[in-house]
Amino acid sequence: MSTRTVIRGGLVITASDEVHADVLIEDGRVAALAVPGTQEWGADRVIDATGKYVIPGGVDAHTHMELPFGGTFASDTFETGTRAAAWGGTTTIVDFAVQSVGHSLREGLDAWHAKAEGNCAIDYGFHMIVSDVNQDTLKEMDLLVEEGVTSFKQFMAYPGVFYSDDGQILRAMQRSAENGGLIMMHAENGIAIDVLVEQALARGETDPRYHGEVRKALLEAEATHRAIRLAQVAGAPLYVVHVSAMEAVAELARARDEGLNVFGETCPQYLFLSTDNLAEPGFEGAKYVCSTPLRPREHQAQLWKGLRTNDLQVVSTDHCPFCFAGQKELGRGDFSKIPNGMPGVENRMDLLHQAVVEGHISRRRWIEIACATPARMFGMYPKKGTIAPGSDADIVIYDPGAEQVMSAETHHMNVDYSAYEGKRTTGRVETVLSRGEVVINEREYTGRAGHGTYTPRSTCQYLT
Ligand code: URP
Ligand code: ZN
Ligand code: ZN
Ligand code: ZN
Repeated sequence: MSTRTVIRGGLVITASDEVHADVLIEDGRVAALAVPGTQEWGADRVIDATGKYVIPGGVDAHTHMELPFGGTFASDTFETGTRAAAWGGTTTIVDFAVQSVGHSLREGLDAWHAKAEGNCAIDYGFHMIVSDVNQDTLKEMDLLVEEGVTSFKQFMAYPGVFYSDDGQILRAMQRSAENGGLIMMHAENGIAIDVLVEQALARGETDPRYHGEVRKALLEAEATHRAIRLAQVAGAPLYVVHVSAMEAVAELARARDEGLNVFGETCPQYLFLSTDNLAEPGFEGAKYVCSTPLRPREHQAQLWKGLRTNDLQVVSTDHCPFCFAGQKELGRGDFSKIPNGMPGVENRMDLLHQAVVEGHISRRRWIEIACATPARMFGMYPKKGTIAPGSDADIVIYDPGAEQVMSAETHHMNVDYSAYEGKRTTGRVETVLSRGEVVINEREYTGRAGHGTYTPRSTCQYLT
């Protein structure tokens, strides 16, 4: 195993800088950067990055490997999903451990450690889904923050499953205001949505496109507003996950203008796909069923704007794949039984580079929203999310001129379709290092299950 690697001649891009530099890696960490050709570092391995970008490995702060949902499980395991992430230039994921109702946070967290341990190709951390807020759970939150699980997802949707009412949300937020945890909110009014689901089905509206119609943008905006005000009352910061509606972006923007520590994440599917996909004929629309749902195209411009103005700070995938055959098909004849979630962990870095090519964001903003800010938001910076002396050598050599076509035929996610089938993009991951080890070498997988280690996190480093 090589302990000294040099990456020569590339354009090193971080959230703050773009510089041509040679990068020295020693024992898994970045040791130094230097003006190209000025240092004669002896090395076991030299990687020529001339003409390429040298970027921090992606940090995907929202994945669901093996998530139980709607009577089935997300089809990527930690092994297959983290391998696919590596292929796509992501070197850290933060996945969601799940507390089941009637059980402790500890039980949920232990179960997720058992799924991941020894199986991951890249590093991973955990958020905790809190489904059952009670006195014991609140005490456990303190312990989890101390041991590096510093963020907690709550759901205003899915009554009877993950749902928390406003009182439970307020209590968890009050606790996080004390212990430094960050509440991540699935902001949709699930009680109202369930009424609309029932009414739609009674009218015979069973196709996938009705998933988008009942999960109204206004009900995302209303829940986002409510979550913001509950957090304000509790004196706690708030991170709203998978924002898709422009009305929700407006709520976040207003709260941020008021000076609140309120943050928002969106996902590639909301930036590149729309209700047109949900309306694809046959049962094809089921491939695009996720919550919050895809929106009409006009929402996309507002999401891009939010990313440029920093009203949205992070792009994660919400990677939660279900195969079309046998899994999405559970909802034929009843859209409410289609398991919610889409694949994407392998596509995020490329799709966001495509956004650079198309002029939506700058190169540095690409790295900021995909690497640096998620690392800061979830307490992993500068170990993750940048290329600086002392950082983990999680580095991607990216060829900005290579063309590719996204397809289920060629992707590495364990799912039988691509949400971006046939999409042409410019830019491609060539080589990926995880803590100095080459896990993708010129488009060949050289990693191994078990290389990835658990990453305990500090509290949010993004508060103003
Ligand atoms: O549809 C989605 N997003 N599935 C994953 C669970 C969640 O709510 O994030
Ligand atoms: Zn139990
Ligand atoms: Zn969610
Ligand atoms: Zn999710």
